[in-house]
Amino acid sequence: MTSTPASTSTDWQQWQTSWDRQQEWYMPDREERFRVMTDAVEAVAGRTPLVLDLACGTGSITARVLRALPGARAVCVDIDPALLTIARGHFAGDDRVTFAEADLTDPGWTARLPHTTFDAVVTATALHWLDTEPLRRLYGTLAGLLREGGVFLNADHMYDESAPRLNSAMNALLTMRQERQRAEGALDWADWWGRVADDPALAEPAARRFALLGDPREPRPAGARPDRPTSVQWHLDTLRAQGFSEARQIWCSASDSLVAALR
Ligand SMILES: C[S@@+](CC[C@H](N)C(=O)[O-])C[C@H]1O[C@@H](n2cnc3c(N)ncnc32)[C@H](O)[C@@H]1O
Repeated sequence: MTSTPASTSTDWQQWQTSWDRQQEWYMPDREERFRVMTDAVEAVAGRTPLVLDLACGTGSITARVLRALPGARAVCVDIDPALLTIARGHFAGDDRVTFAEADLTDPGWTARLPHTTFDAVVTATALHWLDTEPLRRLYGTLAGLLREGGVFLNADHMYDESAPRLNSAMNALLTMRQERQRAEGALDWADWWGRVADDPALAEPAARRFALLGDPREPRPAGARPDRPTSVQWHLDTLRAQGFSEARQIWCSASDSLVAALR
């Protein structure tokens, strides 16, 4: 486990809040999906679960879980040293939360975790970064990390492809609202990362992040679209095939779904 010490003079709550605002610009219903996710953790795993927050970013899901379930404990794992620095700063002094820096596509990533079994694994807006085969393998690994009866919850971009005109009408409304909010000063992904790079407390982990994953302020290289699953059905079928006994969608918007799977 590697760690960048969190500066004590930085306002980590402000960074956490600005991350949440930036993500909400893309997903205005983000808080709603987190509420359903937190309820599902409590319903299946009770009020004192050990939770793995997978591709945690700044730890937004962990913050919601701990607010609803103060007796919970969480392990936050991510590849990004800058987001983990914000998470470490935000949760400093809270011994319910531990961190691991790991690449989920690395076959040995679970060796970086401080536990071998969890009651719940939660993740949001992250696994669409993985191609089909690494994601299929990851689902199998998660089935192995969850105790029998434990729950996996994934909220991400997953489409119901049976209603393309409805999806596109709702996406068009979202785009119109986003444009209005941009005109009013909302930060997008590239703007937000620009602010991170400019903060002396985050410049070093941000530089490592840019070397590892690219600089979001630069245009994405043109090329073939990656091979990434987009349909809800793919996720449900794959979870069942990889060792989960039940899997279903428990929340959805026009472009996103929250899928729950029981070990
Ligand atoms: C859009 S953020 C979402 C973060 C958080 N779940 C939230 O909802 O605020 C996507 C996260 O996935 C992480 N991620 C992407 N690929 C990863 C990988 N291969 N291993 C670990 N983390 C990864 C990124 O570093 C980033 O923190």
